[in-house]
Amino acid sequence: MRALVTGGAGFIGRWVVKRLLDSGHDVLTLDDYSNGRAENLRAFETHPRMLGAVRGDIKDQACIDEVFARGPWDVVFHLAASIHVQKSIDDPEPTFRNDAEGTFRVLEAVRAQYFKANGLDPADRHFDFDRDVPRLKVRRPRVACMSTCMVYDLAGDEPIRETHPYRPASPYAASKIASDMLALSYFHSYKLPVTVVRPFNTYGPFQKSNSEGGVVSIFLKRDLSGEPLLVKGSGEQTRDLLYVEDCAEFVTTAAFSERAEGHVINAGTGADVSILELAGKCASAGNRVERVAHDHPQAEIMRLRADATKASELLGWAPRTSLDEGLARTRAWLDDNRWGW
Ligand SMILES: NC(=O)c1ccc[n+]([C@@H]2O[C@H](COP(=O)([O-])OP(=O)(O)OC[C@H]3O[C@@H](n4cnc5c(N)ncnc54)[C@H](O)[C@@H]3O)[C@@H](O)[C@H]2O)c1
Repeated sequence: MRALVTGGAGFIGRWVVKRLLDSGHDVLTLDDYSNGRAENLRAFETHPRMLGAVRGDIKDQACIDEVFARGPWDVVFHLAASIHVQKSIDDPEPTFRNDAEGTFRVLEAVRAQYFKANGLDPADRHFDFDRDVPRLKVRRPRVACMSTCMVYDLAGDEPIRETHPYRPASPYAASKIASDMLALSYFHSYKLPVTVVRPFNTYGPFQKSNSEGGVVSIFLKRDLSGEPLLVKGSGEQTRDLLYVEDCAEFVTTAAFSERAEGHVINAGTGADVSILELAGKCASAGNRVERVAHDHPQAEIMRLRADATKASELLGWAPRTSLDEGLARTRAWLDDNRWGW
């Protein structure tokens, strides 16, 4: 298949690209490099199935038109987003524009491709579901739209299912909810085969270890530098940490599954670890773990543990990598790739 990956030069996008290429698909990436890196895609530059890496903004219509002119795309993985919770609180507009409006631009481009391929005029504003949907059977571009576990309300001891209530604790979470709902509306309105994929906190090689990165890389980098590990707040907040290759397998499996169309699907390990315990696992003997004030306590979700039963039942997906194994691989990668710091 011909696959377009938005946010393909980012952390998870890079692994989705790798998995697609390894599986024999053709891949084009679209990324504005606001948080992505050319180095993330370096290993695939000469891959015969790598169609290219476009530098551009999903909100830029000319750029979207150019990328879709290189189609038609059989599948679109929409990962491009602003991902920083604190930045979204400080200045909500860029996150809203990238995560909500950006998703709209991508969906509209997919809809236009879909309509044209089926002989419908995308400019014809009267879409008749009963008349037109039966004609929309050919060349249905599939869409996997990336959500986040940060959309969920506070949870107790029960793992979080897809039916758990939402609580947009930050403009990032709210923008992602908007993105998810828009994506699902294209399934319900046009029968576009869309799946909303909702991984829990993902970690692994190629994740940034600065403030734009993830807690695992931040802890491991500090430990490798001999600096104390800084735990924000009480450290009792928990995360269900998903190894990035398991995440990429989940995202690609969901995208290609007819059974997943129109669904929101969680992915996680089903086990959570407190940030304090994680710091203990990441700190070498002799290094210190220190508590510091939380920068956005109001947006903290104290317990995040996935119920991934739906992913298991619908997709047959289950994570393969234990936390200890994933931490060891991430540490080894950071140690060998200081550019990634
Ligand atoms: N990392 C996690 O723990 C996690 C968990 C759940 C969901 N997600 C979601 O997964 C996706 C990828 O996250 P990530 O951790 O790889 O982050 P990332 O920042 O590494 O990847 C996002 C990519 O999108 C690009 N981008 C941002 N705005 C863009 C725009 N307007 N046009 C084009 N490209 C743009 C960035 O440059 C970056 O390369 C995001 O949608 C994120 O919300 C991440």
